[in-house]
Amino acid sequence: MDTPEMKAAAEVPQKMRAVQYDAYGGGAAGLKHVEVAVPEPKKGELLLKLEAASLNPVDWKMQKGMLRPLLPPRLPFIPATDVAGVVAAVGSGIDGFKPGDEVVALLNAFSGGGLAEYAVASAKLTVKRPSSASATEAAGLPTAAITALKSLRSIGAKFDDDTAAGKPLANVLITAASGGVGLYAVQLAKLAGLHVTATCGGGARGMDAARGAGADEVLDYETPEGAAMRSPSGRKYDGVVHCAPAGVRWSAFKPLLSGGNGKGGKNSSKVVDLTPSFSAYLTAALHRVTRARKRLVPLFMWPNKAELEFLVGLVKDGKLKTVVDSRYTLGDVSKAWEKSMEGHPTGKIIVEM
Ligand SMILES: NC(=O)c1ccc[n+]([C@@H]2O[C@H](COP(=O)([O-])OP(=O)(O)OC[C@H]3O[C@@H](n4cnc5c(N)ncnc54)[C@H](OP(=O)(O)O)[C@@H]3O)[C@@H](O)[C@H]2O)c1
Repeated sequence: MDTPEMKAAAEVPQKMRAVQYDAYGGGAAGLKHVEVAVPEPKKGELLLKLEAASLNPVDWKMQKGMLRPLLPPRLPFIPATDVAGVVAAVGSGIDGFKPGDEVVALLNAFSGGGLAEYAVASAKLTVKRPSSASATEAAGLPTAAITALKSLRSIGAKFDDDTAAGKPLANVLITAASGGVGLYAVQLAKLAGLHVTATCGGGARGMDAARGAGADEVLDYETPEGAAMRSPSGRKYDGVVHCAPAGVRWSAFKPLLSGGNGKGGKNSSKVVDLTPSFSAYLTAALHRVTRARKRLVPLFMWPNKAELEFLVGLVKDGKLKTVVDSRYTLGDVSKAWEKSMEGHPTGKIIVEM
């Protein structure tokens, strides 16, 4: 007998509701509600009936033109890449998925498509999700949690699935710890057995969320102690995940770092910068060629399926949670967009279809 999910998958309409922008700039007011054709899955692709999508700063940065001429490749553009839903149809050459499967996916950044009733996803970046992970919770994962995981791995954090030897890592600093990436980073750092010092804005909601995610020490970045980012227990950091959108002042970070326990190379202590400026790339290049023991490392999140599978597995095992800042319907997406552009969410902003 068909489950309700399989029935929904079988009834694919020709047209769907979607939200797109057709020019750069304009913020939430530039988003337009449209009716467009449901996309067709090509070889290696799945058609998903979306249940939820999450927003990331890159979505509105693309609309602002900050990534042009690369992204978006053309206008009009349906934004958002992080989605959860049900497989509605399967393209050719697909193994392992069938209509009715509940999944989470990271859509191709060049195609976007997440703010719509249906979207096509590559099977290479789609993962089945357990019934214990709601669409809302799963949709938060792709960009933010993969970024958090990659950042921690690049400073040397080890997880259950890592076998490579490396220097033992003890103390980390996570800035903007109550944001979308930050709250995953705090939880993952604790799973890797690290002592976490977190900075976030002074609101009780953000600080409570950082503590709830497991942070051992929480600093308010609006106080002098928080702005200095010094560990209240006097620890030096073996690594920093710098999620705050303000650029890295290397002179502020350098004295806070332990300097690793070996000669440069992989044993250096690193500050991973998620929003690197041009000068950050120059500083990072200098650190690399001089094999510095304290290094700046710009991060560009290049996803892979194994990482998304690992994260979904943690959710399944109850070890990782999505903190939801706020939920909106597709009809109310402009409020979600405004909220993301304000830049102070506690966790993920979710749009439910
Ligand atoms: N390199 C990559 O591949 C990659 C991938 C993902 C994200 N990112 C970037 O990483 C950054 C964080 O992403 P996200 O998804 O976590 O963003 P988000 O969910 O919108 O959170 C923004 C965070 O920034 C904090 N913040 C805002 N103004 C601040 C300030 N003046 N000083 C310190 N912190 C401040 C906020 O903290 P309060 O609410 O406490 O103020 C909030 O925690 C964004 O710039 C994003 O574009 C880069």
